[in-house]
This record gives sequence, C-alpha cells and structure tokens, in this order.
Amino acid sequence: MPAATRRTALAAGLSLLTGVACAASTPSLEALASRHRLVFGAAIEPGDVEADPDFARLVRSQCGLIVAENALKWMALRPSPDRFDFDAADRVAAIARVQGARLHGHCLVWHEAMPDWLRRDLRPDNAERLLIEHIETVVRRYAGTAVSWDVVNEAVERNDGRPDGLRVSPWLRALGPAYLETAFRAAHAADPAARLVLNDYGLEYDDETWMVEKRGTMLDLLRGLVRRRVPIHALGVQGHLIGHRAPAYGRGLTEFLRAVAGLGLEIHVSELDVDDQKVAGTAAVRDRIVAEHYARFLETMLHDPAVSRVVTWGLSDRYTSKTFLSPRADGAPVRPLPFDADLAPKPAARALAGVIAGRRA
Ligand code: G3I
Repeated sequence: MPAATRRTALAAGLSLLTGVACAASTPSLEALASRHRLVFGAAIEPGDVEADPDFARLVRSQCGLIVAENALKWMALRPSPDRFDFDAADRVAAIARVQGARLHGHCLVWHEAMPDWLRRDLRPDNAERLLIEHIETVVRRYAGTAVSWDVVNEAVERNDGRPDGLRVSPWLRALGPAYLETAFRAAHAADPAARLVLNDYGLEYDDETWMVEKRGTMLDLLRGLVRRRVPIHALGVQGHLIGHRAPAYGRGLTEFLRAVAGLGLEIHVSELDVDDQKVAGTAAVRDRIVAEHYARFLETMLHDPAVSRVVTWGLSDRYTSKTFLSPRADGAPVRPLPFDADLAPKPAARALAGVIAGRRA
C-alpha cells in the first residue's frame, strides 16, 4: 500500500477509534472487521475478564471472537491421566456466550504446556488412544460453541533435522508424522462443523532465511495434508512480531499466502502482538514503532482475500503474557498490544483499524 494511501487509511483508523474508550457510539474493531470480510478477536484469560468489568467491556466492544490463551491446553485440562478439569475452559466459553462472541479453541496438540504425567507416560503403545480420547472429549464438549480449533500447534522445526522438517515433538516420537492426520481426523469426527487449523510461528519475515525456509516446509506439509484429504481448513500465522527489527513483510510473504490460499485454505493472523522488549525510547516512541509493525504486517496479510481472521494475543497491555515472557531490562511495562494498560486505544489500535478500513471490499 503506497505511503499516501497508508496515511489515509491510518487517518481513517484514527477517526474510527478516537472515541473507543467510551466504546458505545464508536465502531469497534470487530464491527469494522465484519464490514471487510474479517473477524477480529483476542486471546484472554478468564480471570482477567471476570475480575475487571472495564476490561470485560473492552473485550465485548472490540471482539467478535475469543481465544482461550491457556485454558484449553493439556496443562490446564489434564491434571492427571484419568481426569479432565474444564473449569477454566468452561469459564472462557461462558464469557464468549455472554459477550455474543465466537470461541476459538487453542490448542489440541502441542509440544509445550504438556502436563508432567503426559511427558513421562507418552509411548508408542498408548499415544494414539490418549490423543484421540483427548480430542474427542474436548471437541465434543464445545461443539456448537467453539467455531474452530488450533488442532496442531507449531509442528514445523527444521532445526530438528528431519527431511520433512517436522518438529521431533513427544507426539512425533510416539506416533510418527501420522499424528497430524490422526489429530485432524479425530477433531473433524468430534465436530464436523468446526474449522480446523494448523498454527505456527516464524513465517512472517522475508529477510530471515530460516523463516523463508520454514514457509517452504510448511507448504510441503500443507500440500501433503490436502492431497490426503485430511480435514484441514486454515493455516494460522501467529504474527508474534519483533519491534526492534525492521519490518520485512513483503513479496515473499505475499507469495507464501497466495500459495497457501491456492490449496483452498483460509489464513488466520492468529496471535498478533509486537514485542517491544528491546525497543528503545519513551512509551510514545515505542507505541509509534509498535503501530508501524501492526500496519506494515497487516497491509501485507490483509491484501490477501484468503485472510479471514485477525486475533491479537491479548487486547490490552494491562494483561499480556509478554510481561513475564519478555520483560524489558529497564523494567518499564511492555506495550505489545492495541490498547494500553488504561484500556485506551494506542496508535496500534488505530493502525489496525486503518488497515482493516483500507481493505479492498
Ligand atoms: O496459572 C499458573 C499459575 O497458577 C502459577 O502460579 C504460575 C507460575 O507457575 O503459572 C501459571 O501458568 C502459566 C500460564 O501461562 C498462565 O499464566 C504458565 O506457567 C506459563 O507457562 C503459561 O505461559 C503461556 C505459554 O503460551 C505456555 O503455555 C502464555 O501465557 C501464553 O501466552 C503462551 O502462548 C503461546 C501460544 O499458546 C502458542 N504460540 C506462542 C504463544 C506465546 O508464547
């Protein structure tokens, strides 16, 4: 998008969101997104919404989709081999229902957030039963509430040295590459209406060789799944952007998105935030840099009509896992998200709105 057009789009975003703090009369990101073939949402922790009515109102005013940041992971759901704990997940589902938002389930199979017993006990002779039983139980419970699932998260890791570039996760060690197909087929059988997603990071930057190579590996993986008629509907591009490096979301990303769309798949921006841990300057300076990354990345992503969803990994700097995952050396609060810790829109929110508003109808 030429600079002049971008400035116009950002100005449009500014006008759309200047009053969002009072929420009521100003179109929300979701209201704007829905006019441009998009769903906008955010990841949340149930406790943050339940304990903070102001934040609950912001989530309700801005989000048409809610993602369980942690409540639907094995670590939260499976305290022991013979027990499911759905408390946190049910609370997220209740929040979605009360707020009239759709629920996205994250994530059914991942090499992290595995309870100790699973890491210890997972073996070739029990893995398929554990995997299918988990997926069937969880997906059936939220059938009709969860519209989609990250079925497998972060399956590609070329540094693990396999010719197919797959991550040598506990699931792959136990079941081989077939675990992916098994997981997607189990999820589809449990809820045929749910949209099923393969979600991953490290696909965003044209000037990172490992990311360019990972895109190729991901395309090969997706082609194989589609060829074998595995029920997969979308690729999730996480979008954890790095604020202290130059934006590089260009032709390579555009061509990658076109190739994914050419397989008949939707594309989700699934975990968007901008890490400002190593960005120098005042809050205002950092906010401007963060907003530029939101704008540049989304200009490229939303240029592709196959992109149907933008989800930020949190909504406000008041609640972000980057506080403990990526703290600043100077101790200043991190500022990765569209709304600040006072729940007011930041330049990033305006950038988001501007790029969405500028999307070809
Ligand atoms: O809830 C417990 C709390 O009871 C305990 O006192 C505390 C200290 O041990 O831990 C709390 O759980 C933490 C949980 O976040 C909730 O805050 C876990 O330790 C911590 O590991 C977990 O981190 C999450 C991480 O995934 C690992 O599951 C982050 O919040 C979450 O933002 C992050 O999200 C991931 C996506 O799922 C996949 N893509 C990358 C993304 C960012 O890392």
